[in-house]
Amino acid sequence: MSGLFQQQIQPQIQSIKPYIPGKPVSELQRELGLSHITKLASNENPLGASERALAALEIALKDVGRYPDGNGYYLRSTLAVMNEVELNQVMIGNGSNELLELIGRVFAGPGDEIIFSQYGFAVYPITAQIVGATPVEVAAKDYGHDLTAMANAVTERTKIIYLANPNNPTGTCFGKEDWEAFIQSIPERVIVVLDEAYLEYVDQADYPNGLAYLNQYPNLVLSRTFSKAYGLASLRVGYMLASEEIISYVNRLRAPFNVNHFAQVAAVAALQDQQFVQQTVELNRQGMKQLVKALSEFNLTIIPSQGNFICVNFGARAAEINQGLLQQGVIVRPVANYGLVDFLRVSIGNQNENQHFVDALAKVL
Ligand SMILES: Cc1ncc(COP(=O)(O)O)c(C=O)c1O
Repeated sequence: MSGLFQQQIQPQIQSIKPYIPGKPVSELQRELGLSHITKLASNENPLGASERALAALEIALKDVGRYPDGNGYYLRSTLAVMNEVELNQVMIGNGSNELLELIGRVFAGPGDEIIFSQYGFAVYPITAQIVGATPVEVAAKDYGHDLTAMANAVTERTKIIYLANPNNPTGTCFGKEDWEAFIQSIPERVIVVLDEAYLEYVDQADYPNGLAYLNQYPNLVLSRTFSKAYGLASLRVGYMLASEEIISYVNRLRAPFNVNHFAQVAAVAALQDQQFVQQTVELNRQGMKQLVKALSEFNLTIIPSQGNFICVNFGARAAEINQGLLQQGVIVRPVANYGLVDFLRVSIGNQNENQHFVDALAKVL
């Protein structure tokens, strides 16, 4: 690269390292010419999507020449009814990723601070950088959010706190007591974004579902996605629940037609197939058991996870093992970019995919 324009880009863009996605199957196929590839790198749904969502997509195909409903009326109203909130408390996005970033752009800028946890989802620090705010990373406790320390990190300049529960990539999950003490202690002027991308998978008894707190805390924003338990990752659709006021501000920045027609139609159908979500969660529970057992037989330690993925500690061999797994046709996710240099994150697949990973690991170890 010539670097001709380096001096012209906005100063806050200079230091941004782009988000690193999981390696696509087609890329490994191209590189190694392997036919049997298992991707456990992006926390996708091993069941694919609900038959009902697929059928709705097929019918919707004929409308490809038209713009989508820019207000996302049917999807938003379905979400409003299901979550017992007003229509104007719901906003949909091009993946929840878009919404997480829009919140940052609305509420923070140069001179402001955005708080997130060490090992918190990568999009939070990237958003802080994009908007030119100061990223404030708070040290993790047992790889999870230290909510007391995060509350103590609030200053007059704090505009947003991002939390993921469960968190990606660690899978850690905080409980009700810690959450309630936290949210009560945060000044009302500070926006608290509770990212519940993996909500459906949680089976922790004291899990604080953010919805129960939405009316009480006007500064609370919930972010959810159709990419995981609903199996629609490729369509890019997520949603945000918040006060009408917050939604109205974020809506000012939303690009017209940010969520395409197919995503809207499939998401409505997917919401109507909760049995598929239950199947997904059950498969995940079994797969988690299968992997935890196999990993303990290899004497490997893990971070206990409430999501559809698990972080495994390979010590100094993590990078080498990642390469070895790729050679065996298994794609997992290195998390060195999170500072977790000893770990690899493995998404929970179906039984055969999990077994492919275990067999490959046996060879590599
Ligand atoms: C914690 C968390 N939040 C948000 C997202 C973004 O998901 P999407 O943009 O597909 O909704 C992810 C994706 O991996 C995630 O792990």
